[in-house]
Amino acid sequence: MSSKKDDIKFAYWVPNVSGGLVVSKIEQRTSWDIVYNIKLAQLAEQNGFEYALSQIRFTAGYGAEFQHEPVAFSHALLAATTKLKVIAAILPGPWNPAVAAKQLATIDQLTKGRVAINVVSGWFKGEFQAIGEPWLEHDERYRRSEEFIRALKGIWTTDNFTFKGDFYRFHDYTLKPKPYNTNPHPEIFQGGSSRAARDMASRVSDWYFTNGNTVEGIKAQVDDIRAKAAANGHQVKVGVNAFIIARDTEEEARAVLKEIIDKADPEAVNAFGDAAKQAGKASPEGEGNWAKSTFEDLVQYNDGFKTNLIGTPQQIAERIVALKAVGVDLVLSAFLHFHEEVAYFGEKVLPLVRELEQKQVALAA
Ligand SMILES: Cc1cc2nc3c(=O)[nH]c(=O)nc-3n(C[C@H](O)[C@H](O)[C@H](O)COP(=O)(O)O)c2cc1C
Repeated sequence: MSSKKDDIKFAYWVPNVSGGLVVSKIEQRTSWDIVYNIKLAQLAEQNGFEYALSQIRFTAGYGAEFQHEPVAFSHALLAATTKLKVIAAILPGPWNPAVAAKQLATIDQLTKGRVAINVVSGWFKGEFQAIGEPWLEHDERYRRSEEFIRALKGIWTTDNFTFKGDFYRFHDYTLKPKPYNTNPHPEIFQGGSSRAARDMASRVSDWYFTNGNTVEGIKAQVDDIRAKAAANGHQVKVGVNAFIIARDTEEEARAVLKEIIDKADPEAVNAFGDAAKQAGKASPEGEGNWAKSTFEDLVQYNDGFKTNLIGTPQQIAERIVALKAVGVDLVLSAFLHFHEEVAYFGEKVLPLVRELEQKQVALAA
């Protein structure tokens, strides 16, 4: 099922790290290997998913013991699909914008415009220490990310690019070839929820990705970003994380959630929680991701249970449309058993979402 311009869009998390998307010892039929992931990408594009998001981790403190590099991995998924857009996460610091711009321009040429980038800003100090990268203060990390994005855009869209920033400098630089996508360049996503994240989104990003949250919590962020973006003459779309448990009955779905949490690995969840809480409180106003997360929330490491897409296809479809009503453009989804559940979502949930969207359009006309 292909989406229309105003339809809410769907992405899925690429399981390019081991352990699935929950820190739990529950049985998971999800694998981080390439054979599993290629089949998943093909299933996802057949089932109405427009985007896939690969993750960047150099080390992990919460399971995720093995991690494939996202740019290389994304390209492998693109080569095995025909429509899916794959968003590769990149961390300023280890990546320089000149390298990222060139890598992605090449992939964009090879895949006729299907690659995108998620600029993440770093939350895990231990990871930076492990690879000998200086650890900047929270808002400095965002200042660097913003320069990174400005540099990327400049390199991708202009010749003789000159830029004098605090973190990056370019002198009369012309990238050849430029990306295939000249409308105006590959899409730029960003992840994070703090004030600095929202401010950056309202100035430079095409997409703002945030952790799972209640409809009210999401609405507050959307209102803030859209107001600031309007003042800056900028447009930004919003994607929200959700761990989806769709089952024929609500009882079954709730039982799966309970089992995930009952079988959570407390040591791994607490190790992740310690690092994440530091990150959540690191922003000056204490509103970053994980600032208010409970143990149960942290079992899905981007607060994906909070969005509450857990229940029957009808309940989930209604909640997705409620997210759309407060300004959400995309749901970023994770599942316990990705292959089976991406197909179930495409067959059972997505048609209901499209039906409800049509009803809303008819009501508004
Ligand atoms: C949807 C989403 C995806 C993210 N992906 C990654 C990732 O792959 N690697 C990473 O190190 N951080 C990732 N992050 C973390 C953010 O870039 C950021 O460091 C974190 O949310 C803390 O920022 P904050 O204080 O602004 O909330 C992601 C965040 C979100 C919301």
